[in-house]
Amino acid sequence: MSILIKNIKELLQIRDHGILKVEGHDMKTLPTIKNAYLLIEDDTIVDFGKMEDCHNYNPSETIDAKGKIVLPAWCDSHTHIVYAGNREQEFVDRINGLSYEEIANRGGGILNSAEVLQNTSEETLYQQSAKRVEQVMQLGTGALEIKSGYGLSIDAELKMLRVIKRIKKNFPIKIKATFLGAHALPKEYKNDKQGYLDLIINEMLPQIAKENLANYVDVFCEKGYFSLEDTEKILAASKAFHLQPKIHVNQFNAFGGVALAVKYKALSVDHLEELNQEDIDALKGSNTMPVALPSCSYFLSIPYTPGRRIIDAGLPLALATDYNPGSTPSGNMNFVVSTACIKMKLTPEEAINAATINGAYAMGISNVCGSITKGKKANIIITKEVPSYSFLPYAFGENHIEQVIINGLCL
Ligand code: NIG
Ligand code: FE
Repeated sequence: MSILIKNIKELLQIRDHGILKVEGHDMKTLPTIKNAYLLIEDDTIVDFGKMEDCHNYNPSETIDAKGKIVLPAWCDSHTHIVYAGNREQEFVDRINGLSYEEIANRGGGILNSAEVLQNTSEETLYQQSAKRVEQVMQLGTGALEIKSGYGLSIDAELKMLRVIKRIKKNFPIKIKATFLGAHALPKEYKNDKQGYLDLIINEMLPQIAKENLANYVDVFCEKGYFSLEDTEKILAASKAFHLQPKIHVNQFNAFGGVALAVKYKALSVDHLEELNQEDIDALKGSNTMPVALPSCSYFLSIPYTPGRRIIDAGLPLALATDYNPGSTPSGNMNFVVSTACIKMKLTPEEAINAATINGAYAMGISNVCGSITKGKKANIIITKEVPSYSFLPYAFGENHIEQVIINGLCL
């Protein structure tokens, strides 16, 4: 099976092999080819270039992309897309004046989702989650990280991770799984934090490793959730199981989580709505990717991650959705890219770099996804006819996508 996409108005994000992320000033550059072609064979990008250099290929399918932009599918490196039910009542409560924190303190929030998930069968959880995965693929997402963390018991955490495994098997999209047992303290352990940490470290981690259910480990390192000390215990224990950290830090408070994550060679530090100079300094010279989640800031009305400051300090930045029932009930990467431009003042080039190659890096897959590179996965977005690529984030809230190809398959 081969697909030739021809007459492409502009082909975005052309990268050489070995470019695994872009950082600082380089994020302002988005390498492109105007009037281009792209050849896909099975699940792989095999050739591309200027139309005038296009060989006389004999593909099984030809797509004429006149007036249209072609770019790599979005790489969404932070989601909680496997969850049960929804929390629209809390949304209404927030409109009526309660804060996210107040709702959590009343037993709502993550604990609310955990209770619903514990009472939902694995099959139903799979069906609800698969529907969301289907939706985000249609919105141009070609790679997805999915966290556990709404289980908060051995059985329910394993249930979530098995659902992730099943999604991985049944969908063409690239999936990475992250174990987030330390997302909140379950009710039963309200007065026994150490007991829950022991459960995570002595029972959950070994079982998950044994069944090979996770690629990464996460902790919600935040006041009222898991302290620096708790986080360090989990990261240290995870090391023995070769689970690299990708952690929630600085969503509401900055108190050293970034430096701790860097110390444990985290692949990414995510949220960063609150960020101080020590955090920036800790990231400098590290291999840890800062990840911003602007839809979460939008939905909760909390500050946006200072992406400008991060990039201007010479650091890389990735963008992801944080798709979850509490703080971001949306998996739309197009909205994320627009919001990063509108609210975080990223240029379209920076935002597209952050949502493709850098997102792939934050999942450890930028050797196979995130750019137009020969040999990489054929995960492609073909837009409708648009005046330029800046039009994509500019005309926000509109669907500019005409066709999505994932793993060489036209959706
Ligand atoms: O990334 N911050 C922690 N976890 C999620 C939200 C969890 C929830 O409210 O269900 C987040 O925003
Ligand atoms: Fe999250």
